[in-house]
Amino acid sequence: MLNVTNLNVYYGDAQALWDVSFRVPPGKIVALVGSNGAGKTTTLRTISNLIKPRSGEIRIDGKITTGLPGYRVVENAVAHVPEGRQLFPLMTVYENLRVGSIIPEAKANREKTLQEMYEMFPVLYDRRNQLAETLSGGEQQMLAIARGLMLKPKLILLDEPSLGLAPLVVSQIFEVIKEVNQAGITVLLVEQNVQKSLELADEGYVLENGRVVMSGKGKDLVCDDHIRKAYLGI
Ligand SMILES: Nc1ncnc2c1ncn2[C@@H]1O[C@H](COP(=O)(O)OP(=O)(O)O)[C@@H](O)[C@H]1O
Ligand SMILES: [Mg+2]
Repeated sequence: MLNVTNLNVYYGDAQALWDVSFRVPPGKIVALVGSNGAGKTTTLRTISNLIKPRSGEIRIDGKITTGLPGYRVVENAVAHVPEGRQLFPLMTVYENLRVGSIIPEAKANREKTLQEMYEMFPVLYDRRNQLAETLSGGEQQMLAIARGLMLKPKLILLDEPSLGLAPLVVSQIFEVIKEVNQAGITVLLVEQNVQKSLELADEGYVLENGRVVMSGKGKDLVCDDHIRKAYLGI
């Protein structure tokens, strides 16, 4: 589905990613975990072509996408749910969802997809005429994910969906991610919540200072000594 090979990304002269490689197989949940500043957002923004890598290759369904403009990546059925949700606060839930289906393919099925979103997220149906800024943090995150799903993506990139949410709400969001995946959508989940992400993910990659330092099955990584010491405080 997604193959990232030897990605090197710079901000000016400062290198942010060093030979980052990983794979997201179709139908799976892959977690890319790491601390603040590890390079997680940079990785997602590079996949979405919001940042141009100095070198390296990104393939989606076998096709090289590095160097294409961002909207072309969207047409490749990749939805990017950005860090901090980036909703339109003074637009309603309904209006935010409509904005998600901007490309022609998604627009044609907008009403049908909208109904699917309301079924998947009943709380968004209840609040469809409320301004996005009046939603709770968890509801806003659900709206951000649903807005991404309005594209009918094959692959969804989730940047720190649990950030700033209370533990109970974090669990709900992780349930939502599982549901999205069960609906047939491949997930690349980027998180600082290392434990929950690795428990959920089929496969995990650990990013430290812009480098992939470990990878493996999510369940194996949670048990790993380095991970437990460095990220789980055990
Ligand atoms: N717009 C930017 N300009 C310069 N440096 C940046 C910019 N965005 C991120 N960085 C730097 O790149 C590194 C990786 O950041 P980021 O990808 O945001 O990490 P994460 O998402 O894992 O917290 C950090 O050292 C950060 O300071
Ligand atoms: Mg980030």
